Amino acid sequence: MPTPALTLNSDKDIKMKIKELEIKGKTVLAPLAGITNLPFRQLVKEIGCAVVCSEMVSAKGLFYNSEKTETLLTSMEAERPLSVQLFGSDPDCLAQAAAFVEQLGVADIIDLNFGCSVKKVVKQGAGVALMKEPKASEIILKAVRKATTLPFTIKIRSGWDGSGQQAIDLAAIAQDAGVDAITLHPRTAGQGFKGIANWDLIQQLKEGLAIPVIGNGDITCVADATRMLAQTKCDAVMVGRAAMSNPYLLAQIEDAVTSGTYKTPEPREIFRAMERLTDLYVAYFGENIAVRMLRGRLAWFVKGLPGCAAFRKDLARIETSGQALALIRAYEGVDAG
Ligand SMILES: Cc1cc2nc3c(=O)[nH]c(=O)nc-3n(C[C@H](O)[C@H](O)[C@H](O)COP(=O)(O)O)c2cc1C
Repeated sequence: MPTPALTLNSDKDIKMKIKELEIKGKTVLAPLAGITNLPFRQLVKEIGCAVVCSEMVSAKGLFYNSEKTETLLTSMEAERPLSVQLFGSDPDCLAQAAAFVEQLGVADIIDLNFGCSVKKVVKQGAGVALMKEPKASEIILKAVRKATTLPFTIKIRSGWDGSGQQAIDLAAIAQDAGVDAITLHPRTAGQGFKGIANWDLIQQLKEGLAIPVIGNGDITCVADATRMLAQTKCDAVMVGRAAMSNPYLLAQIEDAVTSGTYKTPEPREIFRAMERLTDLYVAYFGENIAVRMLRGRLAWFVKGLPGCAAFRKDLARIETSGQALALIRAYEGVDAG
């Protein structure tokens, strides 16, 4: 399919440098708690995208050796470059967590969360709560910067009011503290995911900074991504929710910006992705947990396909991964026999 808005032909246009890390491509899979686990990242990476992000990882959890938290750091060479996102509010704890992650050797980028607006996180003074505290944020940023030699990025929102000034101010503090790139999801703390992301603020941030800016928010299709790149001049785009139902979207965006065209996946390719995710989930989570999760996850992929309601109904009742695979085959019209 042709895409009119933007084609980037030179290598220089397509590359982004975060500290010494050269990234070839324009797409970043967003950190999505509960979603961007290793198997999902693997799937999106295999289909095509430049950078993947972990789910957010509690610095406190790492500090107290929580096994559940450490599991979130499970990674694989094939998915790299990987950005590991930390959250927390204590500078020492965050610095130690960053050093620990670097020492493990799993991450290419350490990202710090300044955007999470979930009550449980905000109550601890972490996530978007930090955007109200520029002094405390500066101390945290300097402590983490000192603790790691890895590329260090932050992910922020607009702030607590509609002006966007808190984002502009925090970004300047971060750049001065040695942060190497900033992702902006331009919605306020109170908005959650409501309303429309204010892409003008991405442009404003980009104009005022020397370090790369990654734009995020409301990219649902290739045209949205090329429009954000053209309009804001951001260095790369980050895609979250839309990748949950279309794991092909980031590869489509890469194709569109490099060649001006992209392919819409055939239903057959969507079914192969569903089978692949099933296998990856079972290998990572084990049969029982995988099956429970796949009942919902696989349902997202068939959005818009004919007969998806009946497929979803059957999917909700699967008890084994074999049943999931048989259902996918039957839906595709292939005899599983
Ligand atoms: C289910 C879910 C989980 C998320 N988890 C995180 C997270 O762990 N860390 C983070 O920085 N943002 C998180 N976000 C926000 C996304 O990374 C992204 O900023 C937001 O969804 C806007 O981008 P989109 O319009 O492409 O979805 C989450 C969003 C959703 C919907």
